[in-house]
Amino acid sequence: MLRTHTCGELTAKNSGKEVSLCGWVNTRRDHGGLIFIDLRDRYGLTQIVFHPEQKKQLFGLAETVRPEWVLKVTGKVSPRSKETVNPKMATGEIEVEAADMEVLSKAKTPPFEIASDKPVNEELRLQYRYLDFRRAQMQRNISLRSKVFQIIRKYFVEQGCLEIDTPCLIKGTPEGAREYVVPSRMYPGNFFVLPQSPQQLKQLCMVGGLDRYFQIARCFRDEDLRGDRQPEFLQLDFEMSFPTQEDVQEIIQGSLMTIFKECSSKKLKGGKVGRFSWQEVMDRYGSDKPDLRYELPITDISELSVGCGFKVFEDALAAKGTVRALRVPGGAALSRSEIDTWTAIAKELKAKGLAYILFKDEGPQSPLLKFFKPGFLGKITAATGAGEGDALFFGADKFRVVCASLGRIRSEAAKKFDLIDASVHSMFWVTNFPMFEEADDGSLTFSHHPFTCPDLSEWEKRETDPLSVHSICYDLVLDGYELGSGSIRIHDPVLQSQVFDMLGITRADAEKRFGHMLHAFEYGAPPHGGFAYGIDRVVMILLGEPNIREVTPFPKDQKAKDLMLGAPSPIPPEQLKELRLQFLDKRT
Ligand code: AMO
Ligand code: AMP
Repeated sequence: MLRTHTCGELTAKNSGKEVSLCGWVNTRRDHGGLIFIDLRDRYGLTQIVFHPEQKKQLFGLAETVRPEWVLKVTGKVSPRSKETVNPKMATGEIEVEAADMEVLSKAKTPPFEIASDKPVNEELRLQYRYLDFRRAQMQRNISLRSKVFQIIRKYFVEQGCLEIDTPCLIKGTPEGAREYVVPSRMYPGNFFVLPQSPQQLKQLCMVGGLDRYFQIARCFRDEDLRGDRQPEFLQLDFEMSFPTQEDVQEIIQGSLMTIFKECSSKKLKGGKVGRFSWQEVMDRYGSDKPDLRYELPITDISELSVGCGFKVFEDALAAKGTVRALRVPGGAALSRSEIDTWTAIAKELKAKGLAYILFKDEGPQSPLLKFFKPGFLGKITAATGAGEGDALFFGADKFRVVCASLGRIRSEAAKKFDLIDASVHSMFWVTNFPMFEEADDGSLTFSHHPFTCPDLSEWEKRETDPLSVHSICYDLVLDGYELGSGSIRIHDPVLQSQVFDMLGITRADAEKRFGHMLHAFEYGAPPHGGFAYGIDRVVMILLGEPNIREVTPFPKDQKAKDLMLGAPSPIPPEQLKELRLQFLDKRT
């Protein structure tokens, strides 16, 4: 090694020792004849001091040094005087008296300051990610991410799992997102599809008798990006044979508890991982992934609203919808424009509006009151507990629309009124999901993925009332994020074909797309089930980072571009020709 120590390890105990350190110039300070350089590496900072009475050449060289140059410095460790000890630095008791220095690399002035923790434009950080890595925040985030990987590997191996890698060049596996495809040179007109998850392959491992599988799996999804999504991301992917859903949940929960114990100082709200049915959380919080670090429940006022006089509510009920109210404590202070912003949010989520009442000192205020029959207001306030200073927001529509809009207003209200208790984590299971959902075009679609086992006691209702059939699917929710999903799988080819039928996948199409699964199930498939959670999301939440890019070493930006590499990018015409590809439209 070019160095004897790292920049983070020398203490008073090393005093008098001759050492060599290598690292980057964090700062250089000229102090009345003395030059101080803080040398930085992944492990910390060490102060190097240059005296003018030393070799002239050495001092002269130290004067030319600039931030981010890479140096090798040799010298003696000397204890700092009492007044100059820096208790904030691990190496604050000592400094190194430079006796020799070699410039290993010079550096241009970086596009942003590395040594300070001032906010930096994110585009620049992504473009120069290698410089961003030198900043303390990224060093911390990447280190924690690595630690999480290690905990996961150790834990799942201890659970008797085999770590099995699965390929990225595969066939489509539906998880509800658009897929990334890779053209095949050998078979022009044919494509590999990058996995949205290793779902089918892990199930085939179970058919293969491998019993318990895990993988830190790279997944690819071409979907609209949000703060908690990347086009490619990592899942802890897990599958086991012969389990009940509780067995899968216990193992997954155990892994997260271990991660949290080792990486977070926050306690779990209520001291344990909660458990709700999908119906319960949707009814009470309007979301299948509510943040329960605060309460803010929603109240069903459908029954009270029959014949209430307000047409919007009555029409919703007549159309077999629901009417619900959200009480926002302190909400009477909301301004007109804040309410307009929330109304626009509700409308984006397909609500027709966001009716409200503000309970001002001088009495309730709302454009709706004039429509209400006598007594209705009293009934609503009694049911919701709304009182002076509060606001009530209403949704009147189909169940899912009302949940989506009021669930979102619930989280806007928590942010606005600072209701989130950031000193705890809230984690819970959501179970008993509906097996199917209605797609925008009215057709049936899966709510988890098409390999999820329905609740067999309800399966006979599939023809008459498919939306009322539940599945053996479960999600884990942490601080308002969906951390992961899993299910007990179908292992019977007949049942699997029935599910494909329900989803409108023809037998011929099912054979083409999923024949390998149907055939595998004919050779003795064990009952099996599993789960996957987003590792990037776990790390993001552990670190309290506001978005997933902060914990992804080389993320894509919000428009799915890699700003450092400049990808995606055109490929040369010869390469296109080799792939027999031509474009219909002009490329952008
Ligand atoms: P699901 O599609 O719910 O389930 O994905 C599981 C978890 O993966 C994470 N995740 C993402 N993280 C970052 N960026 C994204 N674009 C992204 N998409 C998903 C989330 C999510 O909860 N095969 C099933 C699991 C199973 O049934 O075993 C699956 O992939 O944290
Ligand atoms: P309108 O009768 O459309 O003028 O709406 C009166 C009030 O009710 C406005 O504040 C709307 O935002 C709200 N509103 C309209 N439709 C709905 C709905 N389906 N759910 C909740 N609020 C609504």
